[in-house]
Amino acid sequence: MKGTQDVQVISFANQKGGVGKTTSALNCATSLGVLGKRVLLIDLDPQANSTSALGIPKNSVKHSIYDVFTEKANNVCEAIVETRYKNLSIIPSNMSFASIEAELSALPGRESYLKRIVKKIDELDLFDYIIFDCPPSLGMITVNALVASTGLIIPTQCEYFALEGLTQLMMSVKAIKSRYNLGLNILGILITMFTPRFKLSQEVLNELEKYYFGMIFDQKISRSVVISESSSFAEPLHYYSKYSKSSLEYMSVSKEIITKAEGLFL
Ligand SMILES: Nc1ncnc2c1ncn2[C@@H]1O[C@H](COP(=O)(O)OP(=O)(O)OP(=O)(O)O)[C@@H](O)[C@H]1O
Ligand SMILES: [Mg+2]
Repeated sequence: MKGTQDVQVISFANQKGGVGKTTSALNCATSLGVLGKRVLLIDLDPQANSTSALGIPKNSVKHSIYDVFTEKANNVCEAIVETRYKNLSIIPSNMSFASIEAELSALPGRESYLKRIVKKIDELDLFDYIIFDCPPSLGMITVNALVASTGLIIPTQCEYFALEGLTQLMMSVKAIKSRYNLGLNILGILITMFTPRFKLSQEVLNELEKYYFGMIFDQKISRSVVISESSSFAEPLHYYSKYSKSSLEYMSVSKEIITKAEGLFL
């Protein structure tokens, strides 16, 4: 039976590469699972970093997000893989998904494919949260993610180049929102790889707080070697090092996500 609470669909997106989208999507998905939410992470990047980070070898993927888009999987359920982590499943990706941009571009309603897939998943009533790990571009995959989402989280580093990218991203989000998805809310800008002792980081943060007042997550993610270690061991932070600063920071961000997305206070 369908629950009363609609599924929360959250994109982690930023067209800039290497800003912490995958790390944040993966660790927020894991922490939300630990907090009792039933979570489906959908890897929307042909680089398949979320897929590998959960210990799933790219070439062992039976049905990927590409098969779901192209209906090669008979049913979306075929592509959902349960992980060994609490309340966390994934739809994996692989290189084949790289061709979807070109394949979609010729089709009518090309921006709403993922929205239709999400509707089918929602009907299963298996998940409270669907999390998208987006690729580093504002192409058709990211557009599909934003059209299908209720919330957007923008991971960003505290660097001056990030400010330029954010202006462009905000313009695209505004256009997508007004044209296709009035229900899209920006849940916030998530500062990643933060080094507060660097004067430059602090300066950029001040600029961000000026331009995007009230939109920055209270919890910042510090730069930490534990994060690169956990990804080389293909384990989410909570399971790799539960009480590390990074793990606790992502847990705290996840509580903010619940507060913002569901209007609850934890
Ligand atoms: N807080 C952090 N401290 C240290 N290293 C980090 C942190 N966050 C991410 N990294 C590292 O930075 C690199 C890029 O991170 P990640 O893959 O999450 O970015 P991305 O935005 O998903 O990249 P892409 O645009 O290629 O998809 C990775 O090697 C990751 O381990
Ligand atoms: Mg990534």
